[in-house]
Amino acid sequence: MMKIKSSQWITVSRDAGDICPVFRRQFAAEKEMVKAELQVTALGVYFAQINGQRVGCDVLAPGWTSYDHRLQVQTYDVLDMLDKENDLRITVGRGWFRSPMPGWMDSADKQRRYAQPCGLIASLTISYADGTEETICTDETWQWAESAVRFSEIYDGETFDARVNPSIWEAVKPLEWSKDILIPQEGERILETERVSARRIFRTPGGDTVVDFGQEVTGYVEFTLCAHEGDEVLFDHAEVQDREGNWYNENYRSAKAQVRYICRDGQQTWHPQLTFFGFRYIRLLSWPGDACTENFTAIVVHSEMQRTGWLKSGNAEVNQLFSNIVWGQRGNFLDVPTDCPQRDERLGWTGDAEVFIKTASYLFDTERFFKKWLHDMAADQRASGEIGQIIPDVMPEADGSSAWGDAATICPWQVYQTYGDKKVLEDQFECMRKWVDFIGSVTKTPNLWTDHFHFGDWLGLDAPSGSYKGSTREEFIASAYYAHSAELVVKAGKLLGRDVSAYEKLHQDIVKTFRAAYPDYRTQTEHVLAVHFSLAEDPQKTADALADMVRKDGVQLRTGFVGTPYILHVLSAYGHADLAWSLVLRREYPGWLYPVTKGATTIWEHWDGIHEDGTFWSRDMNSFNHYAYGAVADWIFEQAAGIAHAEDKPAFEEVIYAPHPDERLGWLQAKLNTRHGTVSALWVCQEDGVRYELETPVHTRVCLNGEEHWVNPGKYTFWTTK
Ligand code: BGC
Repeated sequence: MMKIKSSQWITVSRDAGDICPVFRRQFAAEKEMVKAELQVTALGVYFAQINGQRVGCDVLAPGWTSYDHRLQVQTYDVLDMLDKENDLRITVGRGWFRSPMPGWMDSADKQRRYAQPCGLIASLTISYADGTEETICTDETWQWAESAVRFSEIYDGETFDARVNPSIWEAVKPLEWSKDILIPQEGERILETERVSARRIFRTPGGDTVVDFGQEVTGYVEFTLCAHEGDEVLFDHAEVQDREGNWYNENYRSAKAQVRYICRDGQQTWHPQLTFFGFRYIRLLSWPGDACTENFTAIVVHSEMQRTGWLKSGNAEVNQLFSNIVWGQRGNFLDVPTDCPQRDERLGWTGDAEVFIKTASYLFDTERFFKKWLHDMAADQRASGEIGQIIPDVMPEADGSSAWGDAATICPWQVYQTYGDKKVLEDQFECMRKWVDFIGSVTKTPNLWTDHFHFGDWLGLDAPSGSYKGSTREEFIASAYYAHSAELVVKAGKLLGRDVSAYEKLHQDIVKTFRAAYPDYRTQTEHVLAVHFSLAEDPQKTADALADMVRKDGVQLRTGFVGTPYILHVLSAYGHADLAWSLVLRREYPGWLYPVTKGATTIWEHWDGIHEDGTFWSRDMNSFNHYAYGAVADWIFEQAAGIAHAEDKPAFEEVIYAPHPDERLGWLQAKLNTRHGTVSALWVCQEDGVRYELETPVHTRVCLNGEEHWVNPGKYTFWTTK
């Protein structure tokens, strides 16, 4: 029950500038208490304290949703925190709600959001042993003061003055704000999930003092020091060092990502509370006395997700790649699937999520995480059916793009495929359908998608010089995805028992029109899409032509965001697994292992974020924590290790075991916790052949040596000889 709805929204009585307000209510609870439940949410991000102790362990609550429509409420059991005399305080920062997002551009909507008031709504319901109940609601009896958080914002960081102890308490003002938007916590909680000790502190040739945590993470740095009142701690964040080993954070663009802390007297420990950063290094711009590694700990923050998938191989660099993929997910699954955690974006780019979702759903249980985000997508879907470039849609003026907007169909379908619950399709069906209708309403050519803005094969390696878009024809991509989305509406609709005959016809028409419009394929990505979306009339011939093209290109990828996630699948499905492996194992640029050879600890936005000679790709689009190309892991699970399932057996209700071993790797082990139990698979290349060990909890189709047979749940060893 949402008790909170009987509370009133409150706000500050005057403009406090950058300073974050703390709201307070003091109250007595004299009788014996048996239950005490605090419900809170805010226009901004908040942390609550009762009698000086932090309430709960949620970070950056209430999380990020499509705030005009949906705002999550957190509920905490606070019985053990209450006393006879109580002091409840809630500090509210700008958070995603009122930070100037996106950072790099201006718009009327951004100004509107930035100018929104800070707001708080809460209720504390106490049940007494005598059967009575009391609810303390936010209302005009609350007070507010300027807190020690002097500044807090998503991109620029946080300033905290430890000398400040709020003393001037003022009356709050009631705030007119919708309560219809309040919903119970729907996504995973955002939590501190790991502490990473500082590895080393060093002085750069340029004279900066830098702390290295050895791993790129998302979260914040906790520091401990003994200081005098008024001493200042000031540091900023970075992901990499430049060629000379100097400080480099130009790729954060306009995000200042700075922490400033004014000390009180004595020993003290602190970390930012209302913002986060993506970083591996911090630079001490001001630090009282000498710093040592013991002073610093990086705290990793992300949505709570159970780990479900593990990969390990006989190759240390490949294992580092696996680790980078996992860290890429941990760094970018902070309530919303984001492109990157550091620069002035950190946005829920739909295309990135669409590319990575399958991998994400294998590595971690992301069902709840994605269901929440998809609900935001449906809430933000425009009246025309258009899906914005990012969700929550803080760029409502920007056109939707193919492959990005198709997240509307691809993501729910993947959540259903991995976890098997039709509810996600039920919830999203209208959104899926409206997206497909939208394409039909804006295209200039029936059954294709022409004349519209698109990102194309974003960051394609065959991009003409100076462009971010690969050479694949934009309308080819848009039309191919149109076919795919229409097909997914048909599949989802049939499962839900809806009449989708119109979409079935549409899909057939798109395929027919597409084949006539695009009789030839010109790029790697065009070949990939034609096969992967079942558009090519002769998929084997097309996959063979792709393999030839890859070889002619020097066994190199020429694909971007659109082609990369599928190219390996297309190659291995049509007899070119060796070539797929060559792409995966390539250590030179462009290749998945190249960043590993350069010391990457997360997945990079560009294959050559750092060039061979140590210089950078660019300063304006060079994230070192962009999960998209980590999508390779879904191929490793499904094709390399061989743990897959048929579309009509979602959630691995039955397994198809068809591994693709490669001697160059030596061995590969995969483990996947599915909704039907744990599947683990290992292959080891030996002199005379390959040994396979499979443990499966379900009926499994084993495909080895060109033969197929079914096995029951159990543990098996198989051999193939050379
Ligand atoms: C983001 C991408 C995103 C793209 C849109 C970039 O700035 O970081 O990952 O998908 O814009 O093309």
